[in-house]
Amino acid sequence: MKAIVIIFSPSGNTLKVGKVITEYSNLQGIDTQIADLTRNKDYLFSLNRKEYINKLIKDKDLLFIGGPVYAHHLHYNVKEIIKQFEKLKNGNKQYAIPFVTYGGINSGIALHEAEKLLKKQNRTVIAGLKISAEHCLTKKFKTVFNENLPGNEILPMIDELIKTIVDLKNNNSLPNKTIGFLNYQKLSVLLKANIIFREKFWQKHMYPKIKFNYSNCNNCGKCVKLCPVQRYEMTENGPAVRKNAKDCIHCGKCVFSCKKEALIFIADWQKWEKMFEKAASGQGLLPSNEFPRSKVFLYN
Ligand SMILES: Cc1cc2nc3c(=O)[nH]c(=O)nc-3n(C[C@H](O)[C@H](O)[C@H](O)COP(=O)(O)O)c2cc1C
Repeated sequence: MKAIVIIFSPSGNTLKVGKVITEYSNLQGIDTQIADLTRNKDYLFSLNRKEYINKLIKDKDLLFIGGPVYAHHLHYNVKEIIKQFEKLKNGNKQYAIPFVTYGGINSGIALHEAEKLLKKQNRTVIAGLKISAEHCLTKKFKTVFNENLPGNEILPMIDELIKTIVDLKNNNSLPNKTIGFLNYQKLSVLLKANIIFREKFWQKHMYPKIKFNYSNCNNCGKCVKLCPVQRYEMTENGPAVRKNAKDCIHCGKCVFSCKKEALIFIADWQKWEKMFEKAASGQGLLPSNEFPRSKVFLYN
């Protein structure tokens, strides 16, 4: 059996999970490679992204596809990746396992969205994982949400999942088609995610905006290197946004790594902190109601 783990992971949590999946999968005899598409210039600047992606997944029996939850949705860059997978023709089979990491507030409808897209292309979704992780926007809070997660707590869960898949494969019992959805949320979560938390709206109007403060910049180039969607390039005047750059996703990677504060978020962090704490304590618009926080969902 051949597998690939495709990742988009701006702040590295999903990548951590992807690496564990790759390692355990290889240990169990599944020939597995990892493709991290974050900051990947070959992918991001490719003139034919569809071809790039489909080369990666060709000849694979199993696809793991992982990304973060933003505004209770599967990050739209991950959706973009999945949408480029070629639709399977009759008789062809590819199993898929989506996985998401989320910052302990709410994983929203991300797994469900991944599953819907994969099923639309005739892929057989056999499982899904949601993993509670450090909230990458809370680095400046008094208490970082889920600091340093995921850690070793995910190992048994992933080990068991891979072993189960290998067992099912060896017994010829992997399902041909799965019925139902990885939709573990209440209807109210689904509605609120789709009506109130429209991801692109939040990106454009609600998330903290980034501002360059050039007088502090020492041209170290960290922001250029670390931006997950490679928005910046180094010019003789310092870092600048590329022409036709992809939109900023507000992950904060550039801001939090800039020791000179040449890049800052324009944000009322106290307000954000209050809002997040309210949600995490179960009293927000989309309260945290996920127990257990990390979980494998398996169709059988
Ligand atoms: C703009 C933005 C929106 C986010 N929205 C949510 C959310 O709706 N619910 C949640 O629990 N975490 C949310 N998070 C936290 C991320 O899902 C979490 O940190 C995730 O593990 C990041 O994955 P990565 O490290 O692979 O980028 C958000 C983070 C950012 C930057």
